[in-house]
Amino acid sequence: MGWNLRFFLLGAILMPVEALVEAKFDNFPTDIAVIGAGIGGASSAYYLRKLFGSDVSIDMYEPHSVGGRLATAKIDDKEFESGGSIIHPKNHYMVKFAEELGLKHRKSLPSQFALYNGQEFVFTESSSSLLTLAKLLWRYGWDCVRLNKLIGQTLTHFENIYTLQDGGNAYSSVEELLYAMGGTRFVNMTQKSVTEGLKEEGFSARFINELAMAAMRENYGQTVDIPFFVGAVSLAGAQEGLWAVEGGNKRVPEELVKTAKVNLIPGEVSKVMLDKSGDRPKFLLQYQVKDPNDNQILTEQKGYDIVIVATPLNEGISNITFADLPTPLPEVKGKFHRTVANFVQGKLNAEYFGILDPKSAPTGIMTVNADILFNSIGKHNPVTIPKDYSPVGPESEDAVWKVFSQRPLTDSEIGQLFTVVKKTQVVDWLAYPRYTCPGHLGTFVLHDGLYYVNNIEWAASAMEMSAIGGRNVALLSYNWWHGLDGKVDPGRTTKTEL
Ligand SMILES: Cc1cc2nc3c(=O)[nH]c(=O)nc-3n(C[C@H](O)[C@H](O)[C@H](O)COP(=O)(O)OP(=O)(O)OC[C@H]3O[C@@H](n4cnc5c(N)ncnc54)[C@H](O)[C@@H]3O)c2cc1C
Ligand SMILES: *[C@@H]1O[C@H](CO)[C@@H](O)[C@H](O)[C@H]1NC(C)=O
Ligand SMILES: *[C@@H]1O[C@H](CO)[C@@H](O)[C@H](O)[C@H]1NC(C)=O
Repeated sequence: MGWNLRFFLLGAILMPVEALVEAKFDNFPTDIAVIGAGIGGASSAYYLRKLFGSDVSIDMYEPHSVGGRLATAKIDDKEFESGGSIIHPKNHYMVKFAEELGLKHRKSLPSQFALYNGQEFVFTESSSSLLTLAKLLWRYGWDCVRLNKLIGQTLTHFENIYTLQDGGNAYSSVEELLYAMGGTRFVNMTQKSVTEGLKEEGFSARFINELAMAAMRENYGQTVDIPFFVGAVSLAGAQEGLWAVEGGNKRVPEELVKTAKVNLIPGEVSKVMLDKSGDRPKFLLQYQVKDPNDNQILTEQKGYDIVIVATPLNEGISNITFADLPTPLPEVKGKFHRTVANFVQGKLNAEYFGILDPKSAPTGIMTVNADILFNSIGKHNPVTIPKDYSPVGPESEDAVWKVFSQRPLTDSEIGQLFTVVKKTQVVDWLAYPRYTCPGHLGTFVLHDGLYYVNNIEWAASAMEMSAIGGRNVALLSYNWWHGLDGKVDPGRTTKTEL
């Protein structure tokens, strides 16, 4: 380790960077708006508060509930994750947020997954991890070792972002951010498919068509044709130590929003206009809110120095228009993929899957074939697990299953998969991008002072990605406001066109 780095580290230990820069300036924005209270908006509010201090007013617009795609469904007085559910142990922001906010990791309970091809299980996990390893090695050979190496390398690069953001660096586009993390390697990974990427790394067709396919179907409802970068994020979900938040992952944005002391407005933003009539340009937000007295919809307007858009702008999701900007906004590309979470409390039809003893049915069925009716089926535990909790087995009528599919399943389809159906509930999501390959990577900057988190999802959609995107737009806001140009896309000279 060189001396420079040592001094840098010493500085970082003695004084948090944010406190250090804050002291240098005396002009601060008075009003900031964050549109959307998902993990992306909550993370940006948290960091905006840290960067700009206690005087700035932060309004957060959210017509639905705080958490967005982190949400729960209630069955029998118990709540179950209906959206984002799994967190990787190396997701530093999610880990840090939970710790700082006093949220606990949910107890993990034994589970057993199997890969289903529409006729039979091509792989079944054993209750003994040693036996499972032996089975994996038998079926996929050295690909198991290759997978660990691939994920390890990807994570090492990925973790660069934390040091860079701690140092106050911000990125104007998703490509710049990926480049800062992993150089051309990461950018290239967005331009080829999972199949191409894994083939180049020496993986077998069997691994690609079974394990990788199952992971893409489970996590993104899509296939191995999606870009390799999001594919690698998805494959990291095969590692040990995955966790979730006790009480539900939505607890993280809920608590972040409180810590950031935002003013939560239950309104839906419809228009963002640039108003140049004053001393300093302001953004006028037009929003619709229900009058609490008579439930009439009112249209209101308010001005801001900085606006963060923390919701996808894609069709069917947010419907925000922009006006009076000097240059038209870049086109909002792509569509979002529909994934339906069909909750079923009941008894799995073991016979349908060719299982002889229902007690031995896998608790997680993943699929390796895009023609299958469902993406995956999993037996779930509630988001709050009491001390004396013992999960019911897969043979129980009281088990709660989540079936992911591309459209709501009909009663007769549910009837094929389950012999007893006690309760059902459907949560219909526009869940994540419908990825195309080569992937397109957009901008975080819509205008000076107007930033957009959710293009980051086109690299990969995950809680941690939105948390990183949220901090990035907070840093972009801060660096722009104080003219810290050297902290935006630092050290980048050559650019590739995407
Ligand atoms: C079924 C499913 C499973 C998933 N599984 C995982 C997983 O296991 N692990 C993982 O890491 N990730 C997972 N994800 C992805 C993860 O949930 C998302 O990437 C992440 O939650 C996105 O957060 P966000 O804040 O960027 O967006 P959102 O959570 O969508 O937040 C945007 C918010 O903006 C609000 N909004 C929209 N329009 C307006 C408007 N006009 N005015 C004001 N507010 C508006 C919306 O109501 C919403 O609350 C999953 C997602 C789904 C749907
Ligand atoms: C990424 O692709 C470019 C262009 O094909 C190539 O020059 C570069 O070496 C690649 N980077 C890596 C790390 O493979
Ligand atoms: C989107 O907004 C426009 C203009 O305000 C409105 O005409 C349209 O009905 C809205 N669409 C949806 C899906 O809400």
